[in-house]
Amino acid sequence: MHHFHYVNGRLHCEDVSLDAIADAVGTPVYVYSSATLRRHARVIAAAFEGMDCLIAYSVKANGNLGVLKTLAAEGCGADVVSGGELKRARAAGIPASQIVFSGVGKTRDEMRLALSESIHQFNVESEAELEVLAEVASKMGATASVAVRVNPDVAAGGHPNISTGKAGDKFGVPWEDADALYDKIARLEGVEAVGVDVHIGSQIDEIAPMRAAFERVMTLVRGLREKGHAISRVDLGGGLGIPYRETDDPPPPADYANMIREVTEGMGLQVILEPGRVIAGNAGVLVTEALYRKPAPKREFLIVDAGMNDLMRPALYQAHHDFLPLKERAADAPRMRYDVVGPICESTDKFAAERELPVMEPGDRLAMMSAGAYGAALSSQYNARPLAAEVLVDGDQFAVVRRRPSFEEMVALETFPDWLT
Ligand code: LLP
Repeated sequence: MHHFHYVNGRLHCEDVSLDAIADAVGTPVYVYSSATLRRHARVIAAAFEGMDCLIAYSVKANGNLGVLKTLAAEGCGADVVSGGELKRARAAGIPASQIVFSGVGKTRDEMRLALSESIHQFNVESEAELEVLAEVASKMGATASVAVRVNPDVAAGGHPNISTGKAGDKFGVPWEDADALYDKIARLEGVEAVGVDVHIGSQIDEIAPMRAAFERVMTLVRGLREKGHAISRVDLGGGLGIPYRETDDPPPPADYANMIREVTEGMGLQVILEPGRVIAGNAGVLVTEALYRKPAPKREFLIVDAGMNDLMRPALYQAHHDFLPLKERAADAPRMRYDVVGPICESTDKFAAERELPVMEPGDRLAMMSAGAYGAALSSQYNARPLAAEVLVDGDQFAVVRRRPSFEEMVALETFPDWLT
């Protein structure tokens, strides 16, 4: 569910017309709905009502400070994967006690930062990382609360590039090695095992693989407890899918939560979740303006002012995003098949192939829907294009929460070497 809809023939985000935003801020522009972010955070919190549960929003999906602050006000914690994300979460007011630190390549500096902030938990992904964390923490006289990310050897996720839980993926430690690693934690100074962590993939559209992975985790927790490890938490990662098309039918958060309730029943565990897409995905759109039409066999190219640098998902994962014209069209308005493409000098700079849309003229605007997660977050300045602006809407008000950089700002970190000046 989201808050993008037509009012008097114009596409709105909550009570603000997207045309008004595009007129004021220019295109391409990301627009986020506070009401949608809040609604998603609340639906998830409600689904887990009564359980000891930490909803650690996965900052990588959309780390804009305005988005994070909106979610902080809803009581969300954060799942971070870098020192930068940790600082973002803290800057938005998320308490360190609600932050978990995931990722396969934490540096010593990042560990020191997280230890000095006394974050809730480190999700450790290898023996080598564990040894470094123990060393860093001991030197600081600190103890890191650790969960080992295990690889349950379960495949899931909307695309091979976003599946992470199969044997052979770079994530987590092999299932069979987990026991030995927990024994090692018990022997090491500076680290304390508090939990088990798992994350099997993203855009998962069925409950069964998640249940299979989580049941394996519970088996591991029981075994570890029998061996005397005081496991009090499980981190079950993120991954719940969202509808990108009207026909998509991902499991509702309530079904997901009920499955987790069943699997963890009676275990006395804090359950940590790392939802990203399900909170931010349908809370954002990318607004773009049509520049040109260009004939091609059996279709036309519709060249828009957003490029793959602004929204990478179609190029990277052949991902589908629905497009809605900002100006509503009658059901019987003429339609046309378009390859919707951007201005970037790459053939992969294509948002859709042979997509049927109402006829678009230069100057007409489109909203690329469901772009709130892994949209702006994955964007770049390729082709020396400034990052798209980001706007947050709340009711009838909107604010630019990241402005488009000027050319001078884009090159501000570059200098000519002496020999060229
Ligand atoms: N926790 C961990 C350890 C993760 O690796 C991820 C996502 C999440 C949580 C959040 O997953 P979510 O709830 O958002 O599915 N760029 C890709 C998605 C990459 C996901 C990376 N990890 C895309 O645009 O589809």
